[in-house]
Amino acid sequence: MQHFQKRILITGGAGFLGSHLCDRLVEEDHDVLCLDNFFTGSKRNISHLLGKPNFELMRHDLVQPIFIEADEIYNLACPASPIHYQYNPVKTVKTSVMGSINMLGLAKRVKAKILQASTSEIYGNPAVHPQKEDYWGNVNTIGLRSCYDEGKRCAETLFFDYHRQNRVNIRVVRIFNTYGPRMHPNDGRVVSNFIVQSLNNQKITVYGDGSQSRSFCYVDDMVEGMIRMMNGPDDLIGPVNLGNPDEFSILELAERIIELTGSKSGIIFKPLPQDDPLQRKPDISLARKKLDWEPTIKLEDGLKRTIEYFKGIV
Ligand SMILES: NC(=O)c1ccc[n+]([C@@H]2O[C@H](COP(=O)([O-])OP(=O)(O)OC[C@H]3O[C@@H](n4cnc5c(N)ncnc54)[C@H](O)[C@@H]3O)[C@@H](O)[C@H]2O)c1
Repeated sequence: MQHFQKRILITGGAGFLGSHLCDRLVEEDHDVLCLDNFFTGSKRNISHLLGKPNFELMRHDLVQPIFIEADEIYNLACPASPIHYQYNPVKTVKTSVMGSINMLGLAKRVKAKILQASTSEIYGNPAVHPQKEDYWGNVNTIGLRSCYDEGKRCAETLFFDYHRQNRVNIRVVRIFNTYGPRMHPNDGRVVSNFIVQSLNNQKITVYGDGSQSRSFCYVDDMVEGMIRMMNGPDDLIGPVNLGNPDEFSILELAERIIELTGSKSGIIFKPLPQDDPLQRKPDISLARKKLDWEPTIKLEDGLKRTIEYFKGIV
């Protein structure tokens, strides 16, 4: 019988972030179980891992309970782009809330350590800038984005209550905009949208006047941060912000992508969607101090790798 380091369950493992996490943990010789309902994820993202002795794929909807042995759980299952999470908002809330209850119950039962992929959307349209972990956020409870934002906020609450009430060993990271290969080409997220439009020589759609800012973290940096958090000290349960603090306006991003793809695309401006935050920038001093983590991949390098990926699929 082969012996692997740890048994690691990754929910949402066939998605964009999850599949890169699978890659890293399989490479590190862990016994990885990827669980996904393939709503936004795809088998293509993890098909290269299917023959490996330390990788297993299971189709399962997290809204239903499941019993599996695991030492660690990374809970990533949840559609992450507005187009997808607004497709069935009730299901989005169920995935965040019931999915967290199911995974926390499992973690409690098998004594696994569990990490929640939370989000910068916790901060809503922030009244402070940049956002630190102690900022409570400015979130609309009844808007179109609320199914995602409030679902994720409730998930954080559940993680902390399971920790206080049942001593479950938790970790919570708040992920800011992350990009890279295997992003869904039609999910309307800004980086994938702009790249696909540029490669097709279509006009790039900028919402508002493009002065709203975002910070973009390359996926390999994010995976490193998540793994460091999981392996960090037990008293560092979070929440901890993970993201790239370098800020760019949406217009700057569009111009960079047009330049890097050598596209003939122009830019077209459209009205801002409801509750779209105007500024988003993480304060990552906690992650720097406690995890010795910060992003290392420059936007231009990350964009080049992402563009290469999209050239292969567009
Ligand atoms: N990418 C980002 O910029 C970002 C930012 C903040 C937070 N996050 C969080 O990170 C996680 C992964 O995001 P991503 O960008 O990889 O998105 P993604 O949509 O590519 O991945 C989500 C995965 O979860 C699966 N899933 C959805 N509902 C499920 C259910 N009910 N049961 C089982 N599987 C289900 C999907 O099929 C998909 O594979 C999400 O929880 C998201 O909220 C991502």
